[in-house]
Amino acid sequence: MEFVILNGEIIERNEAKIDVEDRGYQFGDGVYEVIRVYNGKMFTSKEHLERFEKSAGNIGISVPYSLGEMSSLLEQLILKNDIQLGTVYLQITRGISPRNHAFPHAETPTTMVAYTRQVERPVGNMKSGVKAILTEDIRWLRCDIKSLNLLGNLLAKQKAVEAGCFEAIQHRGETVTEGSSSNVFIVKDGTIFTHPADNLILNGITRKKLQEICSTHSIRLEERSFSIEELMHADEVLMSSTTAEIMPIIDIDGNKVNGGVPGEMSKKLQELFEAEIEIQCGQLVTTPGEI
Ligand code: PDD
Repeated sequence: MEFVILNGEIIERNEAKIDVEDRGYQFGDGVYEVIRVYNGKMFTSKEHLERFEKSAGNIGISVPYSLGEMSSLLEQLILKNDIQLGTVYLQITRGISPRNHAFPHAETPTTMVAYTRQVERPVGNMKSGVKAILTEDIRWLRCDIKSLNLLGNLLAKQKAVEAGCFEAIQHRGETVTEGSSSNVFIVKDGTIFTHPADNLILNGITRKKLQEICSTHSIRLEERSFSIEELMHADEVLMSSTTAEIMPIIDIDGNKVNGGVPGEMSKKLQELFEAEIEIQCGQLVTTPGEI
């Protein structure tokens, strides 16, 4: 039996019903989070829940639960569904109201749902590296909000999949922004560069962890945007996300990066990131070295 959270209650999945006029369904009028679970424990949950509240606040939704309440509900859900290695998905919408672009009455109850999923770590890809394509970033100008509206991201990802690639690296004109569901980094002469956390990208939690790791280990990381030209001439390219962790990119539009194999910096960051997971969630059973 699988359980989900609907508006603060843990119930059976097949009992959870959402009205056809929920604004999430009609307009994508809401925000979401994806949190990683290792050894039955959430990784960086505080950061994710804080971003959830912030994204919601940015579109005028006030979350009717405290961070502590949400965290405890999600912990119970993970336990009930017996998730050891997986993800928790959490979303809130502006609730149910007759279809109208303007916001409904301020007292309209929001709809919050959460569910879990068993998800392996992509250890094979982390070890071999993955291919990517380049595609124009056609999204809106508030990519910092983790909005349910993901059409631009979906179209980019589908283009990558159809080209037999793992990720689409998006660019606005000459400037590289981020992946369709990840942040992108380049390494040049020992320094890591990534787009500043402004309105053009999502400030990834994995990205933030990586910044912390680099600062602790005296690895140079600069938040500065870089061009397609710099991307194509980088020593190494990598992406980061909750589910993909630290993923080396070894081929872009058919051009090999670092001779088509993950570079030393990527491998080092993977190791340091794993150590961080193990501090919070305990020892990992599989490591990229094992598969
Ligand atoms: N995506 N940029 C975009 C556009 C994203 O969708 C994501 C994550 C990231 C990385 O953020 P984080 O490190 O906090 O996961 C960057 C999630 C995993 C998703 O939509 O499934």
